[in-house]
Amino acid sequence: KLDIMKTGEPGEEIIFGDSANVLRTNIEQIYGGYPSLDGCPLAEGELADIGDGTMFIGLQNYFQKYGSPFKFCFGPKSFLVISDPIQARHLLRDANKKYDKGVLAEILKPIMGKGLIPADPETWQIRRPQIVPAFHKKWLEYMVGLFGYCNEPLIESLNKLVDTTGKVEMEEKFCSVALDIIGLSVFNFNFGSVTKESPVVKAVYSALVEAEHRSMTPAPYWDLPLANELVPRLRKFNADLKLLNDVLDDLISRAKNTRSEEDIEQLEQRNYAEAKDPSMLRFLVDMRGADIDNKQLRDDLMTMLVAGHETTAAVLTWALFELTKNPEIKAKLLEEIDRVIGDRRPTFEDIKEMKYVRLVVAETLRMYPQPPLLIRRCRTEDNLPAGGGREATVIRGMDIFLPLYNIHRDERFWPNAYTFDPERFTRPYKNPDIPEWAGFDPEKWNGKLYPNEIASDFAFLPFGGGARKCVGDEFAVMEAVVTLAMVMRRFDFEFDPSKFTDVDIMDHPKDLNHPVGMKTGATIHTRRGLNMLIKRRNVSEFQ
Ligand code: HEM
Repeated sequence: KLDIMKTGEPGEEIIFGDSANVLRTNIEQIYGGYPSLDGCPLAEGELADIGDGTMFIGLQNYFQKYGSPFKFCFGPKSFLVISDPIQARHLLRDANKKYDKGVLAEILKPIMGKGLIPADPETWQIRRPQIVPAFHKKWLEYMVGLFGYCNEPLIESLNKLVDTTGKVEMEEKFCSVALDIIGLSVFNFNFGSVTKESPVVKAVYSALVEAEHRSMTPAPYWDLPLANELVPRLRKFNADLKLLNDVLDDLISRAKNTRSEEDIEQLEQRNYAEAKDPSMLRFLVDMRGADIDNKQLRDDLMTMLVAGHETTAAVLTWALFELTKNPEIKAKLLEEIDRVIGDRRPTFEDIKEMKYVRLVVAETLRMYPQPPLLIRRCRTEDNLPAGGGREATVIRGMDIFLPLYNIHRDERFWPNAYTFDPERFTRPYKNPDIPEWAGFDPEKWNGKLYPNEIASDFAFLPFGGGARKCVGDEFAVMEAVVTLAMVMRRFDFEFDPSKFTDVDIMDHPKDLNHPVGMKTGATIHTRRGLNMLIKRRNVSEFQ
């Protein structure tokens, strides 16, 4: 029996000794024929299984073969892959302090710096309590109006397409509207990306593409000496990032020059209807006692921009995809939209009233979680409970993947997991074979906007869970509901058959009748866009 060589203390930087230890453990297991030190099987497979932008599908195949957790190695890298709600609950909530963002923080650092997503525990502890109040009730209520306002140019541009080509690529349209919303709400900047292409908008996309590319690249080549000067892709990325940083720096200094310090309680009572600048940046700058330096503020804004934009766009894309595939569900959704809002811009109260639309958003997030997997690194050795899988020792320095995709599509927790069934969240469910799992209890999300991780005992984690849970969850759900309601009310969509091939349909063998294909970066994208035929909806038919 081998000893695990222990180095470092909890909270200390993970050092080479720890990584070497993880590597040694794996090498000895692979080549030395030793029993596993951590109690986990090693997945044997081809790199191609996770390549080509479908890593989450490859990991699901391995999960079905090896259970949770298993180890997955490529080259010198290895990840412990955890796909079980009870183990997720342990990792995200109970033993959260033993883990940090690891590889994710390394990848995102050049873009988000010490923003909340990659933030080390020390920075996070200071910034999280200052950022959470920015999402207060009055602001969120005001934002609902802004979501409607930002959707109007989208509707106008769709109307133009109805009158011309009758065709539209909706993934791109949803991305544009989500970018406009995040720009105005977070830093009062109008990207206007639905109507025009600007260098700033291009810079945002370039930063996003690079972030995605990095999250899929095993070796951080951008850290190599001179790489940033010599590699054209990196030179372009750095130039785009500078453009974007300059815009943010300018907005921050303007906000700081007009600072009017207030206590959090006063800020939370602001009359947003009369505010000249209702943005989150204004709130963060004006908060008394939060004298944050410009660099930290910029990191926070950039984090919101990246985190809050593509995720929501992806949810809208897959919601439209599923609604197009499921006409009865679409009819039910339209009945509710027609009854509650008709042609008005939705209000906060309407969102509460449109429970079915919220269920559609939640079910989309179950089948297409954004991001499809979470990333952690173990900071101090830990024992993982068996849950519905096996017990394991997590070695200090071990990198971890937590594929939400596997948990959300596990038949043991979600019967008929491959069926798009928004009403599943209204039915209680327990699995007697897994007594450690408390089951799904609809009573527990009563009064909340969406069926959260508590109601599902960590089997539904669209916004993560525990201390590092998403701060923009309610914002995002409301934004998706408003956009879906406004677009679906006015337009009828069908898949554009000229754009899909048999290859796309075969992409996802378990989900037959899947005409667009999936690939992933930070979020799940379609392979070649959500190409649709678009018509104006005959509203009277439905009323
Ligand atoms: C964190 C999902 C929208 C800001 C997270 C996490 C998930 C997530 C799964 C946890 C990551 C982890 O544990 O590693 C989503 C989805 C969204 C969405 C699916 C849309 C449908 C937003 C929006 C904002 C936002 C609109 C801001 C305006 C953040 C931030 C964190 C985060 C700052 C880090 C929280 C922390 O570490 O304390 N999000 N998010 N997200 N999200 Fe979101």
